[in-house]
Amino acid sequence: MTRRLFTEPEHRARALLARWGRELGCIVEQDRIGNLFVRRPGRSAGPALQFGSHLDTVVDGGAYDGAYGVTGGLCALERFVERGIETQRPMELAAWAGEEGSRFPVGCLGSAVYVGWESFDEMLQLRDDHGVTLGEALRGPCGLLEGVPIREGFPVPAAYAELHIEQGPVLERAGISLGVVTAIAGMYRYTVRVVGEAGHAGTVPMAVRRDAFCGAAEFALAVEAMARELGDCVATIGWVDVAPNQTNIVPGSVTCRVDARSTDEARLLTIDRRLPAIAREVGERRGLRIEVERFEDRRPTPLDERLEAVLRTTLGELGLAHMDLPSGAVHDAMCLAALAPAAMLFVPSAAGASHVGHEHTDPADLERGVDAFTGWLLAIDRAL
Ligand code: GLV
Ligand code: MN
Ligand code: MN
Repeated sequence: MTRRLFTEPEHRARALLARWGRELGCIVEQDRIGNLFVRRPGRSAGPALQFGSHLDTVVDGGAYDGAYGVTGGLCALERFVERGIETQRPMELAAWAGEEGSRFPVGCLGSAVYVGWESFDEMLQLRDDHGVTLGEALRGPCGLLEGVPIREGFPVPAAYAELHIEQGPVLERAGISLGVVTAIAGMYRYTVRVVGEAGHAGTVPMAVRRDAFCGAAEFALAVEAMARELGDCVATIGWVDVAPNQTNIVPGSVTCRVDARSTDEARLLTIDRRLPAIAREVGERRGLRIEVERFEDRRPTPLDERLEAVLRTTLGELGLAHMDLPSGAVHDAMCLAALAPAAMLFVPSAAGASHVGHEHTDPADLERGVDAFTGWLLAIDRAL
């Protein structure tokens, strides 16, 4: 699956959700950053109980990351409609725009704008790998949905719940189908620019080269060694741009991005201090200029204990086995937790695989997850 934000497949997914929402008799709206909402009114007109996930994917991703939470949330709404269940609060499904950051390099983009972590105007200036700005994409044919009202502002929900695949091996290894998520790992991201000197690959002697790619490679290995040494954290360089990227030219410059994660904020702060030091050391030794700039810092986020307790009680009543676990992946719930009580429910991922095409969850687990999620939403509505 490749559904990058504001591309044709991603636009079709949003249009389909809007259609399904209307067919259920719900109110369908979007906001100005492209988050899409399907709302069923409650007995009171107060703040909604919000739930959802995202419809965009990474490049060559799987079928379940994000889409399960959105379609699972739609199934919950469908059950309320079919069973004539009235809720106290409006129930609002949200499909958050651009959670993956796979086109514009900011993760949880739509939900971060929603909660005020990122400025709408600044996000409009972000560029994709082809130089297209987010503002252009948003106004283009695959941006905001035609015929769907754009609502003002970003209303604060009463609470937020998210259903998601685990994306790791913990539930499967434990043989347990449902996970109560206790916290979401923090994530710091950096742009690293390595500037050397381009030259002829056949004539510049090895001794005088200032090869930016070799510098970036050493930097990457040092980052890997640092993360291994620190423990309880991960660090990845998954995006690299080599210029001029020609077989017969010594690379003149490299831009890459570091993605570092931990549930322990102290680890992230250590990484934050060490990256510039690694850059200085490699740069001085190789005669390169290496700049490190942080462009995203999401703190580790504990989820709401009261919502978690409501979830455990619901699972107990339904006779469903469950366990607690933290999330190594980030989620829109991380942002929403800044606005309202937020919590998450996980179902297993086969072999823990995710962000790959063979991502899979057993249909029985998907179904059980939707049953549990539906019960949880109703229990939250009663408990709040
Ligand atoms: C999103 O899935 C992320 O954790 O990067
Ligand atoms: Mn996801
Ligand atoms: Mn993902």
